[in-house]
Amino acid sequence: MGFPKVRMRRLRTSDTMRRLVRETTVSVDDFVYPLFVRKGQGLKEPIESMTGCCHFSPDTIAHEAAEVASLGIPAVLLFGLPEKKDEIGSEAWAPDGAVQTAIREIRNVCPDLLIITDICLCAYTDSGHCGVIKDDRVDNDSTCRLLAKMALSHARAGADIVAPSDMMDGRVAAIRTALEDEGLCDVAIMSYAAKFASAFYGPFRDVAESAPSFGDRRTYQMDPANGDEAMREIALDVAEGADIIMVKPALCFMDIICRAKQRFDLPLAAYFVSGEYMMINAAAEAGLLDRDQAMMESLHCLKRAGADILITYFAKDAAGLLK
Ligand code: PBG
Repeated sequence: MGFPKVRMRRLRTSDTMRRLVRETTVSVDDFVYPLFVRKGQGLKEPIESMTGCCHFSPDTIAHEAAEVASLGIPAVLLFGLPEKKDEIGSEAWAPDGAVQTAIREIRNVCPDLLIITDICLCAYTDSGHCGVIKDDRVDNDSTCRLLAKMALSHARAGADIVAPSDMMDGRVAAIRTALEDEGLCDVAIMSYAAKFASAFYGPFRDVAESAPSFGDRRTYQMDPANGDEAMREIALDVAEGADIIMVKPALCFMDIICRAKQRFDLPLAAYFVSGEYMMINAAAEAGLLDRDQAMMESLHCLKRAGADILITYFAKDAAGLLK
């Protein structure tokens, strides 16, 4: 036998054959769709820096959530914008804040849709940092106390999952304790466990109006050069009571996703962030690649790397394609 016995192409002969031997699948069940909410009424303002995304008010976000649910997407992730920013970000735990009101409105319309809320102060503080400033630094422990208040306020309003994205040390424990003390023991925590100080959050900061007014986030978010440290970060969040762990961003961090999947046995989420989303959109708009193909390929690759949950601005489009 001179010619190869093994012909890898045999299993690629047709779409049906490829379907039969495919190792990973992307399902609408994997998706979480991020949404932005601010106070007001009848608001649905397209966001220029992020194709297809809008600022909603609590009433209109309920309609949007209903559409998301009708596509079969199991969860939304809410980000709030305050009316007024202050030193400690106090609107973050206002019982009638935009997020709190949106949770109640969505719950009325979509009783089964999972509502996840982002827990972080950066959109609420006048510094644009993810915590309280003391002596020109973000103060860890006082910030944890405020994050726990914010999480509690979202949980009281009906959030199913709270998702701390601030990268303070000990925030998961602070939030877990606050929830348990209040008897909200079924509210899950999805921690942004390994969140890197990334340039790929650029478009999001425009949308959330949350760019830091001085310095950057490198004293709390991780150095993109580090992988072992990401494992330590995740292990700590697991020990503190996280129910779901997350790696963020996703595309440049698939090695972290892969390592986390091998090492931890919790559900693992990957956040396909704003800059990654817009990179594909911009390339597609420039005629350089096919948007749908690049979207589905990226989502498959994240699943292959080990992600169980895909947080993505593509969720609605991908759900449409998967139907
Ligand atoms: C808040 C937060 C950010 C993102 C999610 N939560 C921005 C940041 O850390 O600066 C980014 C999401 C995205 O880029 O899609 N801390």
